[in-house]
Amino acid sequence: MAFETIIVEIEDHVALIKLNRPDALNALNQQLIGEVMTALTEADANDKVRCIVLTGSEKAFAAGADIKEMSEMSFADVNLSDLFGNLGDGIQRIRKPIIAAVSGYALGGGCEVAMACDFIIASDTAKFGQPEINLGVIAGIGGSQRLTRAVGKAKSMDMNLTGRFMDAEEAERAGLVSRVVPAKKLMEESMAAAQKIAEKSLIAARTAKEAVNRSFETTLTEGLLFERRSFHALFATEDQKEGMAAFIEKREPQFRDK
Ligand code: CAA
Repeated sequence: MAFETIIVEIEDHVALIKLNRPDALNALNQQLIGEVMTALTEADANDKVRCIVLTGSEKAFAAGADIKEMSEMSFADVNLSDLFGNLGDGIQRIRKPIIAAVSGYALGGGCEVAMACDFIIASDTAKFGQPEINLGVIAGIGGSQRLTRAVGKAKSMDMNLTGRFMDAEEAERAGLVSRVVPAKKLMEESMAAAQKIAEKSLIAARTAKEAVNRSFETTLTEGLLFERRSFHALFATEDQKEGMAAFIEKREPQFRDK
C-alpha cells in the first residue's frame, strides 16, 4: 500500500516506520493514524520482520494529536470513532517488539504513542509532555495511565496538570526511556537494538514482551504464574534446544522460530 504520511522501510528483518508530516511536526491526524496501524499490522504479519522501530523526525517524534483536525470535533465524533483509543489499543495488540526512537517533541498523543511501544530510546534532544491541559482537555491515549506507571504519581500529575515538558535526561532518570543517546546516533543505536532483538528466537521475544506487559495488568502472584507457565512452554520449542546447545558448544545460536 502507498502511504502518504509515513515512510516504511524493511531492512535486515527490521521494519522502520517513520512518521512523515514535517509541516505539522508529525501531528497525528486520521490519515496518519490509519497508515501507522496498517503498517504495524502488516509488519506484524510479515515473516521477514522480526522487530519494528517507530520514529519521527529530528525535530519531532510527534507533537500530539492533530489539533486543527480535532478542534471542530464534537463529543459524538470523538466518542463514536474512538480514533485515539483504537490507536493505543492497536499498538498494544502488535505481538512483535516495537522500539520507539524519539528525537525532539513527543507531546500529547506523541508521548502516548511512544509509551505504547515496548521501550523508548531517546535522543538527547527529546522532550516529553502531556500538554493537553493547555487545550482544555486531558490525555486520551494513555497519558494519565501509562505515564503514571512509568514515572510515578508525582511526575505524572506534574506533567498532566501543568503541561510542562520533561527533557531526555529527566525522562531517563524517571524511567520513561530506556536510554538516551546523542541525536546523531539515535537511528544507528535504535536500529542496532532492533537488530539485536531480531537475532533472537521470535517466539521467545514475543513471549518476553507478553510477560512484561502482563505485569501491568495483573497481580504479582498471577503475573509470576503467567511467567512461569510461559517459561515452561518455551521448553517445547526447538529454539530452546538450539539456544542451550549453542551455549554449551560455544557457538552462535541459529534460531528458526520453531
Ligand atoms: N496539531 C496540529 N498541528 C500542529 C501540532 C498539533 N499537535 N503541533 C504543531 N503543529 C503545527 C503548527 O500549527 C505549525 O503549523 P503552521 O506552520 O501551519 O502554523 C507547525 O506544526 C510547526 O509548529 P510550531 O510553529 O508551533 O513550532 P514551534 O517549534 O514553535 O513549537 C511545539 C513546537 C512546542 C511542539 C508546538 O508546536 C506545540 O505546542 N504543539 C502542540 C503540542 C500539543 O499541545 N500537543 C497535544 C495535542 S492534544 C493530544 O495529543 C490529545 C491526545 O492525547 C489524544
